[in-house]
Amino acid sequence: MIKACIFDLDGVIVDTARYHFIAWRALANELGFEFTEEDNERLKGVSRMASLDILLEIGGIELSQGKKEELAAKKNENYRSYILKMKPDELLPGAEEFLKELKSHKILVGMGSGSKNAMTIVERLKLKPLFDAIIDGTQVTHAKPDPEVFLKGAEALDVEPEACVVFEDAAAGVEAALKGGMKCVGIGSPDVLGKAHLVVAGLSEMSYEKLMQLK
Ligand code: G6P
Ligand code: MG
Repeated sequence: MIKACIFDLDGVIVDTARYHFIAWRALANELGFEFTEEDNERLKGVSRMASLDILLEIGGIELSQGKKEELAAKKNENYRSYILKMKPDELLPGAEEFLKELKSHKILVGMGSGSKNAMTIVERLKLKPLFDAIIDGTQVTHAKPDPEVFLKGAEALDVEPEACVVFEDAAAGVEAALKGGMKCVGIGSPDVLGKAHLVVAGLSEMSYEKLMQLK
């Protein structure tokens, strides 16, 4: 029996991947190397510091912990300058409609995001009324693929993990959902998200009826 759906934020509800990309690329260029959109794929669903480690590995650069923290803060400041300008129409197609459809069928709706900036986006885009519980990167100690963020989401919704379906655009997120004993719908390409129970291109392809077929 499916009682709740838990959504990742970046790449599922909002298209923030391009802002992360612009900010990481600016940092790479400053450090003297190129950073492509293909490189950026590797950062999806990955925590801020782990993302920086991947970026530095691409550039072949080794830095002290202190310097890394400084660069991560700089990237975040740049990223925030973009999300602070986001508008409600930057919700991905079908997201609002599907979340409302779930509510009309009494399915609980949660958010499980690894981002420490999630609440800024929630406030900018006025997303709070769409969710019954929100867990973000400030409330977890273990990043995806650890299931902590989704397990905390299930707990906040008071639903057992087996009755939850997670929606994720990153391979690390799919892995987290499965580790947590939840069903998972991948948002994106089956090449990357093949382990999910179902893969769709976007939430506009989802419906309550399709969700119920996952049982
Ligand atoms: C999401 C994004 C990642 C990002 C991570 C941390 O998982 O997909 O690209 O690195 O959140 O985001 P933050 O806003 O805390 O830097
Ligand atoms: Mg994501």
